[in-house]
Amino acid sequence: MKTRITTLLNIEHPIIQGGMHYVGFAEMAAAVSNAGGLGMITALSLKTPTRLAQEIYRCREITGKPFGVNLSLLPAVNAPDYASFIRVIIEGGVKIVETAGDNPRKWLPSLQAAGIKVIHKCTSIRHALKAQALGCDAISVDGFECGGHPGRDDVPNFILLPRAADELTVPFVASGGMVDGRSLVAALALGADGINMGTRFIATKEAPVHEHVKQAILDASELDTRLIMRPLKNTERVLNNAAVERILEKERRLGPSITFDDIREDIAGVYPKIMQNGLMDAGAWSCGMVAGLIHDVPSVKQLIDRIMSDAEVIISDQLARLAG
Ligand SMILES: Cc1cc2nc3c(=O)[nH]c(=O)nc-3n(C[C@H](O)[C@H](O)[C@H](O)COP(=O)(O)O)c2cc1C
Repeated sequence: MKTRITTLLNIEHPIIQGGMHYVGFAEMAAAVSNAGGLGMITALSLKTPTRLAQEIYRCREITGKPFGVNLSLLPAVNAPDYASFIRVIIEGGVKIVETAGDNPRKWLPSLQAAGIKVIHKCTSIRHALKAQALGCDAISVDGFECGGHPGRDDVPNFILLPRAADELTVPFVASGGMVDGRSLVAALALGADGINMGTRFIATKEAPVHEHVKQAILDASELDTRLIMRPLKNTERVLNNAAVERILEKERRLGPSITFDDIREDIAGVYPKIMQNGLMDAGAWSCGMVAGLIHDVPSVKQLIDRIMSDAEVIISDQLARLAG
């Protein structure tokens, strides 16, 4: 299947693995790229630019195919050393970067001068238009159902994607709630050039996370995610657990006076405990509503092949018959 996104990124299938904290290591990214999609290393999980450089090197040893690096632009008080992260991305010969979280204006010129294609992930049409005007090469349109940070507008993909198709001229992928051949076909029908998946890729054989994390996704229904940190203007969709219940209770009790410090113990530094040690109540972790549609743990290649073959059957058989 050829779309504007497969052409832009030089990949076989229009399927991207979005950046995922403590999941997007070399094994994950390389598995997706080897299967013909676009895998993504998550820069900030590597902590230092030197470790990111090593991870890029490691990924290149496992795959000869294109892969990207996700750079989340955090409005942090102690912001990461973005200039050095970008230097190692460029020196590492990476040709695709996914930015997210904040306006990529400051970093775009140096990335693009190095021949890097920049996909900006955002949750609203106004931010997508801004990214397009800045010169981003593609947009990842993240709907309200997504795992992670859905923004503040709460617009699901059935509205957001056709709005994006009407407004954008650059290629864009549908992100949030994407899981199988049906999602891919639906995304294409709504005007997208491909899909970006997070949660679905965690429940795969190669995902470098504890088995408890994969099992939690299998056990979850579409009713099991919660939105936390809305009063802090940093809304995140997470899988419900004891830590999330604590956070929500504090949000109710403290109201608008809540601060990050009130919930720090259930948010800060919890990802290694969950993703690597499998301590499922150690804190809040991002998860999409799509968990309700995930019932197996295939290899990444099995997953991507299945998505593509199911999509082809839907397009050339089911839909063609309806049209006929
Ligand atoms: C566990 C997890 C961690 C994530 N970490 C990041 C991150 O560090 N940076 C980022 O830009 N997006 C992050 N995301 C969002 C994904 O890249 C993607 O946009 C989202 O998962 C799409 O929604 P889906 O889960 O319904 O597929 C994360 C998602 C999950 C599930």
